[in-house]
Amino acid sequence: MLESKTRTPEEIKKYMFELKEWLAQERNRPIEEMTDFFSKRIDDYDHVHLSHWAEEYAHIADYFDTPLETLLDLGCGTGLELTSIYQKFPNVKITGIDLSEDMMDRLRVKYADKDINLILADYFAYPLEAEKYDAALSFETLHHFKYLKKQKIYEKLFKTIKRGGYYIECDYIACCLEEETICLEQYEFKRKENHISDDVFVHIDIPLTLEHQIQLMRNAGFRDVHVLYENEGTAIIKAEK
Ligand SMILES: C[S@@+](CC[C@H](N)C(=O)[O-])C[C@H]1O[C@@H](n2cnc3c(N)ncnc32)[C@H](O)[C@@H]1O
Repeated sequence: MLESKTRTPEEIKKYMFELKEWLAQERNRPIEEMTDFFSKRIDDYDHVHLSHWAEEYAHIADYFDTPLETLLDLGCGTGLELTSIYQKFPNVKITGIDLSEDMMDRLRVKYADKDINLILADYFAYPLEAEKYDAALSFETLHHFKYLKKQKIYEKLFKTIKRGGYYIECDYIACCLEEETICLEQYEFKRKENHISDDVFVHIDIPLTLEHQIQLMRNAGFRDVHVLYENEGTAIIKAEK
């Protein structure tokens, strides 16, 4: 298991100062549509993500209970999180959903020997069968969506997980309400400036605070929601059905 580390008030102050400077630099940069963003960076994607979250990718399987027969991976991308999952559960049947064909093509090559069901779709729109999976996972994907949109996905996850099953999320979490608020303000500003219609997904980070994140999972029906790990802006949360 990973060891948590929470930021000190001084670290939060420094982080927020740097975040504000970065948001100011980014304010007038052209907006990028979600799949274009990942396609443009496909060759460096694994390297960049591993340089930030190597430990979390390596240890994510620690948080899953044995046995695990069926797993849904929402926004599976190139499948970085699946290496540790397959090490611990070599025979698990995985279903991965992602919008980006380029990302899933890389995943297919990596796990060519595995019987993995890959679905090219928007996870908000794709219908998920009730009580189908032992567990579900999402890794660094849901921080691109607003509160009410996320509520819908947690409701779908709650339904598709079997009774007694659980959902694990590793994602970017805002350190405070101010971070959540200023990121969302920039997101709304950029969408408006770039005349982006409501149905278009863009790649802009809008993390929620842990409190809001937990509230959404509880609202969806999950009975127990625990924060299992926290390190700077990353948290691993387990929501039990
Ligand atoms: C930062 S990547 C994370 C990929 C992988 N989970 C990882 O940690 O390496 C975010 C992924 O979510 C996918 N994604 C974003 N919005 C999506 C949506 N609405 N439906 C399906 N996939 C989506 C993107 O295409 C991308 O592959």
